[in-house]
Formats: sequence, structure tokens, C-alpha cells
Amino acid sequence: MAESRGKVYVVGLGPGDKAHLTERARAALAESEVIVGYRTYLGLIRELVAGKAVLASGMQQEVARAQEAVREAAAGRVVAVVCSGDPGIYGMAGLIYEVLREGGWQRQSGVEVEVVPGIPALSAAASLLGAPLMHDFAAISLSDLLTPWEVIARRLEAAAAADFVIVLYNPKSTQRVQQLDEAQRLLSRHRVPQTPVGIVRNAYRDGQQVVVTDLAHLLAHEVDMLTIVIIGNSTTRSCAGLMVTPRGYQAKYELAPSSRECSRGSPGQLASSKPD
Ligand SMILES: C[S@@+](CC[C@H](N)C(=O)[O-])C[C@H]1O[C@@H](n2cnc3c(N)ncnc32)[C@H](O)[C@@H]1O
Repeated sequence: MAESRGKVYVVGLGPGDKAHLTERARAALAESEVIVGYRTYLGLIRELVAGKAVLASGMQQEVARAQEAVREAAAGRVVAVVCSGDPGIYGMAGLIYEVLREGGWQRQSGVEVEVVPGIPALSAAASLLGAPLMHDFAAISLSDLLTPWEVIARRLEAAAAADFVIVLYNPKSTQRVQQLDEAQRLLSRHRVPQTPVGIVRNAYRDGQQVVVTDLAHLLAHEVDMLTIVIIGNSTTRSCAGLMVTPRGYQAKYELAPSSRECSRGSPGQLASSKPD
């Protein structure tokens, strides 16, 4: 009898709460015999993976996780590798393909792979901040574990000079504390101090915190590895504790019968809430 072809699902869990987990993600988890992931993310889906073989590991164990998943699938099992947000955005999807390729994987005959998309942190954060990503934006990770700081700084500089809204992933960790300060200094050469900045910690998870501040006050707020930061472009405005980047409708259409003007940056607005 022909051996069954194993399968790797690379599953995006979205920001964290079950309401934002896709149906396809749920089905992939239900079908999988083995679940592989970072301990914290597995904690978010504990009841969905009860009774399955769960291989949990810590930070910076991504390569071991990918190798483990590929090994299990090569043995004919259905495996889910779980990631926060979307697995194709600073997630595990690329690494799974790299590990497979190194092992001589053939798409037609080798283990099957399905990447299950999830809501990325940038979308989750944007939804809580208002609508900061309505125009062109760049996502930049400040982690220099795998990317040299010179490359990150060059990208920050280019995105700032080109007036992109900028999303900062992995802004700060307990070991990496300088990068956000340097990014703020670099961005301040291209943006005025009142530029609106959104800081979202634990989006759609317990302990959610949402802050709208400005570039001058960014460093006064708590930021860590559970946080994503969105820096507005030259047209972004803050109003009612939210931040909005215009798409350009106002230049073409009459939008409001009467309006209370939104100002650029009213710093220090804090809305801390748990997801509904
Ligand atoms: C390794 S990246 C994973 C990104 C994820 N795959 C995505 O699609 O958003 C981890 C970083 O994503 C951001 N992040 C992920 N989930 C988040 C959440 N619920 N709230 C705020 N930031 C989050 C933080 O910047 C964190 O350091």
C-alpha cells in the first residue's frame, strides 16, 4: 500500500482572540495530529488542540520547530505549525519552505504544504487605532537578530523620506532596547514632532493597550515585543483619540456638512481596554 503523503499546515492564528481566528485555521487545527508552535501562541488555542500531540518550544527556536514539523510530515502525519497573525508576515511560512528546499523537497511528490492566512498584527492594530493604513505604508521589523541594523536603518530612512506610513514590528525586547530610540531619531529627521503615532500592545488579547501619541512623545510610552507601532505620514491626523490617514477623497469631494477639524497630533490619548 502506498504510504500516505504527510501535510504541513502553516496556520496564522490572527492577533489572539478566537473571534478573529478563521474557519480554515480552525479546520486545519482540527485535522492535524501534531501541533507545533511557540509556547505563548499554543496557550492561545489550548482548548482547540486538546488531545493532540503538542510540541511546544521557546523564542528563537523557529528552525527547530520547522525541522520538527517537516520530520513529522515526512513520516506521513498531518502537522500544524502555528504562528501569530499571518504566517507569511515575519512568520513560519518562509522557513518551512526553506527547510523543505534544503531537504530536496519536490512540490508534486513531497509532503503537502498549505499556508493558512491569518489577520496580521498590523491590521489588528490599525483597526484599534482608527484607520492609519489608508494610504501607502511600509512594514519594518526593528529586530536585528537576523537582519543587520544598517539594512534596517536604510529601509527606515527610505520609507521616511518617501512619506510612507511606517509600521514597526518587533520594536523592542528586554535585550534589544536601542533600536526604537534610533528609529525615532532617524524618523524625526523627516517628520514633524506632531506626527501622529499609534502604539498597540496585545491587540485583541488580554492586557490590550492602545495609545495615540506623537513622534515627539513616542519614547515616553511602554513598548515591548508584544507591541506594534504605527507612525503616520505627513497627512495623518489624530482626532477623538484615533488616528486617520486620508486616502485623498477630501481633495475631490465635499465630505462633511459641517466639521470639527481634526488636528495633527493630540498627544497622550490613552484608551486601554480589553477586547469586547
Ligand atoms: C514574529 S512577529 C509576528 C508577526 C505576525 N506573523 C503578523 O502577521 O503580524 C512578532 C511581532 O508582531 C507584533 N505582534 C504580533 N501580534 C501582536 C498583537 N496581538 N498585538 C501587538 N503586536 C503584535 C509585535 O511587534 C511582535 O513583536
